Amino acid sequence: MTRSVEGARFVTYRTFPPELYEKFLRTYVTPFSPDGTPDVIDLGCGSGGMLEQLLGLYPKSSVIGVDISPQAIDACRQRPALHDGRARLVQEDMMGLVLRPDYKGRFGLVTSYSVLHIVPGPTPPKFHLLRYLTRPGAIVAVDALPRVPWNAFLFVVLKILFRLRIATLAIRVLGPFVAPNMPKDYIKELSRLDYMKFFRVSDFLDLGYLETEEFRAAFELLRFDIKPQDGFFTGRKARFVLRRKG
Ligand SMILES: C[S@@+](CC[C@H](N)C(=O)[O-])C[C@H]1O[C@@H](n2cnc3c(N)ncnc32)[C@H](O)[C@@H]1O
Repeated sequence: MTRSVEGARFVTYRTFPPELYEKFLRTYVTPFSPDGTPDVIDLGCGSGGMLEQLLGLYPKSSVIGVDISPQAIDACRQRPALHDGRARLVQEDMMGLVLRPDYKGRFGLVTSYSVLHIVPGPTPPKFHLLRYLTRPGAIVAVDALPRVPWNAFLFVVLKILFRLRIATLAIRVLGPFVAPNMPKDYIKELSRLDYMKFFRVSDFLDLGYLETEEFRAAFELLRFDIKPQDGFFTGRKARFVLRRKG
């Protein structure tokens, strides 16, 4: 069993509001939208919030959601919108998709929201996966925690709180102050999820990879932001859009 299975077991994020995905798609996908009817894949689809939006945004496309967690896939199945015949759910470690020839160069749009920092391992293989899945001209839109000093500090503090067994309480009590825009239900859900204790900063994205020849040979960087997830005291997210070179 991999560390990500262990850590991801209970992650379903049922309380993430649809606006969160709408906003992400409005900012990082629609302005760069691939032509035609792209095959779409969402890596680490969780409970399917993004899949639901993608089906609406691309009404003729097939949309695949991949997640390693059976609980996440079950949660997706409970969404009526995912029963329209165009959505497919795959329970698998996304890193294993490079062994699927039917996925090679197939997708015109790849999304991955809040996942790539959870997947164990260094950054290059994660981009190799994105390269493998995409056809020339494809758009890749990612939200993930990068290896920046603030995140390293924050997750050391969180780990200490987990070790002291006060993380749940701390997130519940401090959440509304440090992340005032997060929905209350989400803070409650977050405090129950203990997957953050499995986080390792070495799994976070190494942004130096975006400067490499290997990256530049495969992708054009169309947009790049570092955003506070919410408020001052929460993690910094890297959000970026890539176009696959032909
Ligand atoms: C923080 S949740 C985000 C879920 C979803 N993208 C969302 O926005 O609600 C991270 C997700 O990544 C999944 N995950 C973690 N490691 C994975 C892997 N190696 N392959 C596929 N999914 C993975 C987890 O099961 C979990 O559903």
